[in-house]
Amino acid sequence: MFDNVRARFPILSETAHGRPLVFLDSAASAQKPDCVIEAMGEAARHCYANIHRGLYDMSERTTQAYEAVRDDVARFLNAADRREIVFTKNSTEGLNLLAHSLGNQLKPGQAVLISALEHHANIVPWLMLRDRLGIELRVAPINADGDIDLAAYEELLRDGRVALVSVTHMSNVLGTITPVTKLAELAHRYGAKIIVDGSQSIVHRRVDVQALGADFFVFTGHKLYGPTGVGILWGKLPLLEEMPPFLGGGDMIQSVSFEKATWADVPHKFEAGTPAILEVLGLGAAIRFVESLGAEAIEAHERDLVAYAQTVLEKTDGVRIMGNPVERGGVFSLEVEGAHPHDLAVLLDQQGIAIRAGQHCAEPLMQELGVQATARASFAIYTTRDEIDALAHGIERARALLA
Ligand code: ALA
Repeated sequence: MFDNVRARFPILSETAHGRPLVFLDSAASAQKPDCVIEAMGEAARHCYANIHRGLYDMSERTTQAYEAVRDDVARFLNAADRREIVFTKNSTEGLNLLAHSLGNQLKPGQAVLISALEHHANIVPWLMLRDRLGIELRVAPINADGDIDLAAYEELLRDGRVALVSVTHMSNVLGTITPVTKLAELAHRYGAKIIVDGSQSIVHRRVDVQALGADFFVFTGHKLYGPTGVGILWGKLPLLEEMPPFLGGGDMIQSVSFEKATWADVPHKFEAGTPAILEVLGLGAAIRFVESLGAEAIEAHERDLVAYAQTVLEKTDGVRIMGNPVERGGVFSLEVEGAHPHDLAVLLDQQGIAIRAGQHCAEPLMQELGVQATARASFAIYTTRDEIDALAHGIERARALLA
């Protein structure tokens, strides 16, 4: 479906160990299309200055281009108001911001609820908050298929002490797409606010923050074909307005004296210091590129690849696909008989195939699954069925070498 799209990603014509590159690690970081590379290069060559500060033409034009990306993101997420879009460094910073600005308002006796599927970025800030405030951290379990156990999730909310829920929209290990609308409805029923980590889902599914029903949503630019160093926090405007800032510094203040400081309006209150200007411009290009492909086509391509990979990998000797979630995005964790994930990754690399092996920043989930590590293949809009065949053959060759 996306035959022509590969030509838009210059890196895909590179080789690895003299073999055509088969890049199956997009969940870690996706490759960049020409328009993203050019947007950043063009700005650096022709129109770049610091933003929100200069009274000269180039600063004003850079500010306009930067602020236009806020509009792009608001449109992309269907946010009700452009002020709901906060530029961050990545999802991790968005979650840390929330753990401070929102989390610090919790009192002992209250709790934060996460799930067993979470990435370290959505565990560690809450552990730190627990230790800072003496609150409780609760974890909703998953079932054998890798889906959140909804009955247990509701049970953990039932006493009304959970003030905040923070859950992933798509597992970076099992590919599980979580039922966020239902999770949000339950969280609200028991009086909790809900944060959604959309780092993986934003790449694979249309995200309409108003339809999701969550209070906050974070994602990172580099997985969405954009640059590193830029991410997004979306939050409902009244909630952002009530929250104190996270980082202090320039550009987030209204006035400063040696006695006190007052804050700029949302979203600038949360954007201290010179931001990642070129990267924001790159993210804008990435979002417009993704929009030009269309969410329906992206989801259809993804469903085809996931179904194809399921069939091919199930038939591959010695391979066990981990998890069988109700809905899976383009991520497969594999156990391969006779091959440690790290050995497998090295032997695949020698065939030009890049996968990720390890704990995937989800150590508690590894414990839950009873493994030390997994071999993970993840897909993007440029992934093809031929690459999935190459992975299956690559695994067969690796097993033969290890036998
Ligand atoms: N969170 C990224 C991954 O899953 C780095 O690989």
